[in-house]
Amino acid sequence: MSVHAEVRRISVPQLTAYKGQKKIAALTAYSAPIARLLDDHLDMVLVGDSTAMVAYGMPDTLSITPAMMTAHAKAVVDATRKVCVVVDMPFGSYQESAEQAFRNAATMMAGSGAQAVKIEGTAVLAPTTRFMVDRGVPVLAHVGLMPQYVNVMGGFKAQGFSEDVANRILEDALAHQEAGCFGIVLEGVTEALGRRITETLSIPTIGIGASPACDGQILVTEDILGLSGPRIPKFAKQFADIGSLISQAAAQYAQEVREGQFPAMEHCFGVRK
Ligand code: KIV
Repeated sequence: MSVHAEVRRISVPQLTAYKGQKKIAALTAYSAPIARLLDDHLDMVLVGDSTAMVAYGMPDTLSITPAMMTAHAKAVVDATRKVCVVVDMPFGSYQESAEQAFRNAATMMAGSGAQAVKIEGTAVLAPTTRFMVDRGVPVLAHVGLMPQYVNVMGGFKAQGFSEDVANRILEDALAHQEAGCFGIVLEGVTEALGRRITETLSIPTIGIGASPACDGQILVTEDILGLSGPRIPKFAKQFADIGSLISQAAAQYAQEVREGQFPAMEHCFGVRK
């Protein structure tokens, strides 16, 4: 008999079938302890390339590597049994060619056990989505505000205020849908555009700063737990203040250590005769 807890994950087609039936609740995770706590409650966990900023304090998401993302994704997969786990493909690992994208996606999925990958990109990358999906890699496409394009966009700016840009983002989403992606992450767009894209597509939209008109929401876990410091996005509601709890616990710990209040080994394990 296996000593391992049974793994029964929400599959990629199941997530797609949520469209119009059930909102998709998703958060990011980069480590085993957080992933373990999220597993019972969510539909999808994204090992986002926000790992770069949140876990490593980098200024943007551009410097994280496929090997780093694979290691974080493996920790999340190994710590969960129910959620669908998606891993972000980092900057430079898929934009060059469809072949490069497939090779890196396959390596990242094989190395981590993640069920799907996410890529950021306009309609230009739709053929890459098609190439990967046709070869067994489920793709979640990310349009609107795309953090990997921060240097092209000149900052992390909300998108879709003009009719032209809104139409282009809708075209991007449609192109990836046509190419076979199973869902669309829609970041930093107006409510009107979030609703328009959600009503136009037959696959789910998962919004981040894109309004409740979307078919679900993804947020960075640290933002809703008070672990991101003072600069959290306005759309990220804070559900707990774990940051203050950690700080209080660390202060109490330090004080007790300085007062010599820590146990002798015998008090913990008993003394061997
Ligand atoms: O990297 C990330 O965390 C993301 C967001 C959609 C949450 O891409």
